[in-house]
Amino acid sequence: MSSPAVSSNGAMRHVLITGAAQGIGAGVARYLASRGYRIAAADLNEASCQATVNGLPGSGHSAWRMDVAQEPSVDTTFAAIEAEHGPVDAIVCAAGILILHEGERRLIADTELDEWELTHAVNTRGTFLCTRAFVRARRLRAVDHGRIVTFSSCAAQLGGYRSSSAYISSKAAVLGYTKALARETAGMGITVNGIAPGLIDTAMLRLSMAPGQEAAAAANIPLGRLGQPDDIAAAIAFLISPEASYITGTMTDVNGGYRMQ
Ligand SMILES: NC(=O)c1ccc[n+]([C@@H]2O[C@H](COP(=O)([O-])OP(=O)(O)OC[C@H]3O[C@@H](n4cnc5c(N)ncnc54)[C@H](O)[C@@H]3O)[C@@H](O)[C@H]2O)c1
Repeated sequence: MSSPAVSSNGAMRHVLITGAAQGIGAGVARYLASRGYRIAAADLNEASCQATVNGLPGSGHSAWRMDVAQEPSVDTTFAAIEAEHGPVDAIVCAAGILILHEGERRLIADTELDEWELTHAVNTRGTFLCTRAFVRARRLRAVDHGRIVTFSSCAAQLGGYRSSSAYISSKAAVLGYTKALARETAGMGITVNGIAPGLIDTAMLRLSMAPGQEAAAAANIPLGRLGQPDDIAAAIAFLISPEASYITGTMTDVNGGYRMQ
């Protein structure tokens, strides 16, 4: 049986992952690399991103500094990745921020405009800029089984308990954008699907949780534990595989049953 990581021309499929310096993005990079994909890992934090890449099994991986909120950074870096390592077959937009103040969210009445704008710049504009660069490149040079994975959050679906209104709003925008993008790129053979993580054990979650609160948080999750980056990575591995070619415009809940529709 052929590997989902191998293109029809025999090349290893190339996946660009943003936010790959730590947390879910780094976990997705490790999971996909261990299944044969070539990884382009991008993040604001270049040193940690390089450390992620240094730890990946296989060859042909690369690390990049990219600020997903800045148009020149995204466009220049995307072009450099393709010039050096060939076309990107799939893009996973995991970069994101949640701004808290000593572990607490600001209520709407106390939220400064800067916080609102920065949150949307990274989470929403960043998703737009990165996926736009991918779609523009694939319009010029198609790939087999082009794939886009965006990141929303169960906070956007629920209204959030720990997250700020800016975060919830920015991730709700990704819900709609994912569908719009899926419609626009369907004719190119590209599928677009989002992930809505629940409580995943990363630095972002730990910021909002005092030490020792894990058991209480897990008690509210039907499957009885916090999620791990590999739980997200496994869903993404399926969504970017050729076998998932009839799935587009969806939001996949990876939340241990925390939110059921
Ligand atoms: N952890 C959770 O419980 C959870 C829940 C729902 C959604 N999410 C989403 O999953 C994604 C990954 O989250 P995580 O938990 O791994 O968070 P994390 O904070 O551990 O990692 C986020 C990464 O994004 C990078 N980043 C931030 N701003 C950037 C920018 N402007 N340009 C490039 N990179 C930037 C950071 O440097 C970091 O490496 C995010 O989009 C987050 O909103 C996480």
